[in-house]
Amino acid sequence: MTAVSDFRKVLEDCQQSHLLKYWDELKDEEKTQFLKQLSTIRFDEVNRLFKEAQSSLTEEVTKLDSKMKPLPSDKFESEEGINAKLLDEYRTAGLREIANGHVAVLLMAGGQGTRLGVSYPKGMYSVGLPSGKTLFQIQAERIRRVVSLAKQQTGLAGKICWYIMTSGPTNKTTEKFLRENDHFGLKKEDVVLFQQGLLPCFDFNGKIFLEEKHSVSLAPDGNGGIYRALRDNGILKDMEHRGIKYVHVHSVDNILVKVADPVFIGYCVKKGADCGAKVVKKSGPSEAVGVVCQVDGSFQVVEYSEITEQTANLRDEEGNLVFRAGNICNHFFSTKFLNEIANNYESKLKLHVAKKKIPYVDADGTKVKPTTSNGIKIEKFVFDVFQFTDNFVTWEVPRNSEFSALKNADTADVDCPRTSRRDLLNLHKSYIENAGGKVSCDGVEISPLLSYAGEDIEDRVKGKVFDNKTVILSNEEELLMNNNDYSKESINNLNGIRH
Ligand code: UD1
Repeated sequence: MTAVSDFRKVLEDCQQSHLLKYWDELKDEEKTQFLKQLSTIRFDEVNRLFKEAQSSLTEEVTKLDSKMKPLPSDKFESEEGINAKLLDEYRTAGLREIANGHVAVLLMAGGQGTRLGVSYPKGMYSVGLPSGKTLFQIQAERIRRVVSLAKQQTGLAGKICWYIMTSGPTNKTTEKFLRENDHFGLKKEDVVLFQQGLLPCFDFNGKIFLEEKHSVSLAPDGNGGIYRALRDNGILKDMEHRGIKYVHVHSVDNILVKVADPVFIGYCVKKGADCGAKVVKKSGPSEAVGVVCQVDGSFQVVEYSEITEQTANLRDEEGNLVFRAGNICNHFFSTKFLNEIANNYESKLKLHVAKKKIPYVDADGTKVKPTTSNGIKIEKFVFDVFQFTDNFVTWEVPRNSEFSALKNADTADVDCPRTSRRDLLNLHKSYIENAGGKVSCDGVEISPLLSYAGEDIEDRVKGKVFDNKTVILSNEEELLMNNNDYSKESINNLNGIRH
């Protein structure tokens, strides 16, 4: 381990010597801990980071209107407008890639769920479905189901590796939760956790805060931290080793997420895309989502705060919003592109800066909890790499079957547990009705292990009326239920399951 004398020089060079102010007061184990933490920080980058962050703070928020153009038609397709044959071609192509073991899923789960108000990782949250399943369980089971669909189509027992990006605050709990739940039926070796990086928090003069006398204040580097984390944790090598060519990257909080969606993957592969974004039609001009578009000829997500109301309201001849491609944090990447980004462009990613209230140890050694913003946190965003390719495509999907985000507690009444639960159950109701069943109550859920997107349920639902809260299980789950092997919590939640 680097000695403290070496750090003194490094810190002096970047005007951060105050971090060792309390060194002589520290106990031995605190010293060891502190040196360990200091050795993880790239002090050679610290001043550049702060300078860049500072200029983005003082920059006028320039409206991008005059530079924005909607996506060119050859880079955009909508599931709603497409004929069934082409849709099937995309699905078939995607399932083939899955069967050949070319597809991985990368779940970004490093966020802290502050708005939801829970102290544990969001993936462990259960929105109160009849099954009681958590977001992690639903996603893992969708992976298992899509692999079996790929096998049905091709006869090949393909697989999908589930990479999960965690952060300092979410890593241990996520790892323990998945282990205790046997990775929800996925093979342990096909579930790979890795941690995104952390960046120091600065005061407005560029000084890094001390969180304790023996630790620096650090925060996750944003979901754009994936590129560096993929490289530094050897994940890109692991992907190469496993023969993975395409990665579906998505957020943890969309209960409807079609994990490893074969249609999206097939579409991107057939178009020869390096990267792709799944989008939904903005619900209205003022919806607070970014839009995917072109700025000065490059692909970009423009946040709603960066365009004027007038531009947000522009409509085409058919009455659709011109800038309507709402970003849902759901992306496709080729591993070739991920390698290019990690090796050549990562350090060029835009820095997004937010003023925050950051607790710190002051010059007298007192811990302070500020009541107004006293410093900045810096983040990178996953979508800021779109500008580095021309081989970019967008796939628009219906909101009711693909997007319902969990951001807030129920008190907000929007993007909350209640709306997530409602949207999933409404979707499952439509699956049942399309397959000839009837649902006359709230709360009929279909297990992801039985059906990925409404397929293969006819023999279970046709001609039946569901008038009780229930879960339609896969045969495998039925068997576990009968053997009393199903988790106790789930059984408790499955009251009324027999219909
Ligand atoms: C994100 C999108 C936004 C989109 C919205 C849709 C980004 C930067 N913004 O916004 O354009 O309209 O979703 O729901 O993608 N995460 C990490 N590490 C971090 C921070 C976040 O892994 O340091 C993960 C979160 O766990 C989550 C995902 O990234 O899975 C999105 O993060 P979140 O903070 O929820 O993004 P939004 O601001 O909601």
